[in-house]
Amino acid sequence: MNATALTEDENDDANLGLYQRATQTGAEWWRVSVADRPETYRLEHGVDDASGTGAVDIDLVVDAENLRAKLKKWRREGFAIDSGDTASAPGALERKAFMPELRRVAALAAAARHRPDDDTGETVRIGRVEVRCGAGGALVPRVNPAYLFAARFNDIVEDIGENRRVMLIGHTGAGKTSLIEQVAARSRHGVLRSNMNGQTTVGDFVGFWTVKGGETLWVDGVLPTAMREGLWLIVDEIDFAEPSILAALTAVLEPHGRLVLKEKGNEIVAPHPSFRLFATANAVGAMSQFRQLYQGANLMNEAFLDRWRVYLLDYLTPAEEADVLMRTLAPNMTRTLAATLAAIAADCRAAFAREDLSSAFSTRRLLDWAELMLRTGDPERAAGPAIYAKVSPEDAALIRGIVRHHIAPAA
Ligand SMILES: Nc1ncnc2c1ncn2[C@@H]1O[C@H](COP(=O)(O)OP(=O)(O)OP(=O)(O)O)[C@@H](O)[C@H]1O
Ligand SMILES: [Mg+2]
Repeated sequence: MNATALTEDENDDANLGLYQRATQTGAEWWRVSVADRPETYRLEHGVDDASGTGAVDIDLVVDAENLRAKLKKWRREGFAIDSGDTASAPGALERKAFMPELRRVAALAAAARHRPDDDTGETVRIGRVEVRCGAGGALVPRVNPAYLFAARFNDIVEDIGENRRVMLIGHTGAGKTSLIEQVAARSRHGVLRSNMNGQTTVGDFVGFWTVKGGETLWVDGVLPTAMREGLWLIVDEIDFAEPSILAALTAVLEPHGRLVLKEKGNEIVAPHPSFRLFATANAVGAMSQFRQLYQGANLMNEAFLDRWRVYLLDYLTPAEEADVLMRTLAPNMTRTLAATLAAIAADCRAAFAREDLSSAFSTRRLLDWAELMLRTGDPERAAGPAIYAKVSPEDAALIRGIVRHHIAPAA
């Protein structure tokens, strides 16, 4: 081993390779290779972003001591050697080629998607997505002007445009239903909702025969109604649905899937182009870990889940929720008040996830409490009807403690 070895048990070549650290849009890297003169090293620097592998913007030759100093500095800055870069490792070239290649084709696909087609139908922009407008009508939900479209919702909105079946999972009050409703409201699509955690029968869902004025009539259930009329159907709490309803749904999970009304002489219902199908659930898939909080929820089998795009929707972050509070209760809600209230909600949710609290703390509950607080000027009194009366005495005591932790009593 020569005197300029960088470490005692490694030769200089062990330090050759690619040192990378992630950036918000890609990666920053230094490549170390041997230079022409003995015991010198070539250092090249570049930044990869969404458009692909970046050009070399720094190119220098250093001696071993200088390299050692650089390695120390890079380590401090969060660069790590990309061990897969050694050409001898199996699959090394493919491993490195994958992301630049994927970024290139994804950018092409995105450009193609956003090129206007010859369809002249009206669209509305929601987040970064152009959504085709519907026919309007009495079933279009009301626009909530205070609704916050977080950037992470873009993929979901894009899926709606592509006619994918979308399932939103998450805690109660995290915003599953309102996301779909607010997309529908802005794009003027009518919405039907059907809750599976109650008395919804397969008759309500698919349809049934009835006698009216001596005549036997078929009444469409919500599913064929939505399919024929091009409405958006939200199947709420799908993890409580009975098997016969899931069986009916499975038929229409493909984008052009047709429904066969067996009870009506096998009449075939083809989906209107505007028809969309959504489901929400609290304790499915990645949320299964919380099943004990949602008594009676069924596990959904993988084959059924694989027919959906399943998105885990978390509560809004405290900063987003403070924003929503201010937008909803403008002009009376200030940033100071909103930030504290959002922090209280976050603490209550953490207690719920730890199972210290048995009741969830929804954005709905927070908004209601805040509104009443603005009227009464008293957080404790407002919490009575908005929170405490809805939960067990133990939960109320714990929430009261959290509130006192954040709000000092008035002097
Ligand atoms: N992004 C948001 N911007 C503004 N308000 C929101 C947002 N997300 C949720 N909310 C508020 O939270 C309330 C509860 O949301 P929503 O009813 O959609 O929850 P959910 O997940 O469907 O709950 P559940 O499981 O009980 O059905 C909504 O009425 C809305 O006022
Ligand atoms: Mg809901």
